[in-house]
Amino acid sequence: MVPLTLAEHGELAKGRLPAVIWDFFEGGAGAEWSRRANLAAWRRHVLRPRVLVDVSAPDCGTELFGDRLAAPFGVAPMAYHQLAHPDGECATARAASEAGALLIVSIFASRTLEQIAAAAPGAARWLQLYWLRDREALTALVRRAEQADYRALVLTVDAPKVGRRLRDLRNAFALPAGLAAANLDAELTSSARQSATGRSGIEEHSRQQFDPSITWADLAWLRQRTRLPLVLKGVLTAEDARLAVEHGVDGLIVSNHGGRQLDGAPPAPAVLPEIVDAVPADHPVLVDGGLRHGTDLAKALALGARAALVGRPVLWGLAHGGADGARAVLDLVREELLDTMVLAGRPTLADLDRDALAPWPATAAAPR
Ligand SMILES: Cc1cc2nc3c(=O)[nH]c(=O)nc-3n(C[C@H](O)[C@H](O)[C@H](O)COP(=O)(O)O)c2cc1C
Repeated sequence: MVPLTLAEHGELAKGRLPAVIWDFFEGGAGAEWSRRANLAAWRRHVLRPRVLVDVSAPDCGTELFGDRLAAPFGVAPMAYHQLAHPDGECATARAASEAGALLIVSIFASRTLEQIAAAAPGAARWLQLYWLRDREALTALVRRAEQADYRALVLTVDAPKVGRRLRDLRNAFALPAGLAAANLDAELTSSARQSATGRSGIEEHSRQQFDPSITWADLAWLRQRTRLPLVLKGVLTAEDARLAVEHGVDGLIVSNHGGRQLDGAPPAPAVLPEIVDAVPADHPVLVDGGLRHGTDLAKALALGARAALVGRPVLWGLAHGGADGARAVLDLVREELLDTMVLAGRPTLADLDRDALAPWPATAAAPR
């Protein structure tokens, strides 16, 4: 089967991956309400097409923190790409670079920051961090990111601990032998390898390593350690968006972590407009969660996002086709976005404004 949709990439991946890895990728926290709500939320809007507009040369190219992108999109930070494919993040880096997409590398990447950079020299790439208790380890990562030409740092702030992911608890999920967080001391991640019935190695590990005591006041510590732009991921209220700007943050990613952290957290499109309105226009607001079609990306842009990130579908492509599979996923999203821009009579990104959307249906039932 040649996959024509992201969902078809998912079917191919599911056929390839061991069930416990599929569950780790796919699962959310708690009752998985937020995970399902993410998928439903993009269907709460319809596109308002304009007609008799010259759409002969649609253009979705853009620039983000000085890097050119073929479309306003990127790969969300995700841990351990080697669970999907032996080439791991190096394959994803090649795919993202060839597709003209931003790559956000997770602190829990299974290849080193330098290997990933060497796989796609000159490509747009940021590093995502969690706030580790070990601040020396954090500082060392910042230095390495700067030296390997990462263009921004993303601090994920929705994870004082890992959410209660029932699939992983039931599967006693742990990192398989031979796989590690390549950028952290082996000792720092050894607990992620230990499993026991009803427990998850990933959850144990976060309990030991993540610092749940940090507050806005601590941001200054990180801010002082780098000149790179600092982006906060996991902001879901206008109040926190304003605080972020006050504390010197350069951009935001509106995200509920793919429904993997607080179950009951809103899907990003529900809160994106209030956040976009709360921050100055020169602070890019990105978004992720449940993007499965180019139309979803068009809707994210119309709600005010500067770019949107794709998560699980990239791992699906990687799992069944390595770098080519991941690239096919990203190319499909860009092609579908261009298609949408043509058919909606909105051939430039500037045309995708809030007038491009209307709510649908007017009285929606809550997602099940
Ligand atoms: C397998 C997996 C691992 C993830 N690891 C991280 C991570 O290390 N850091 C982080 O900030 N977010 C992580 N996320 C969350 C993603 O960055 C993103 O918010 C989410 O997956 C987007 O939703 P989508 O998968 O529906 O596109 C992870 C998500 C998945 C599915």
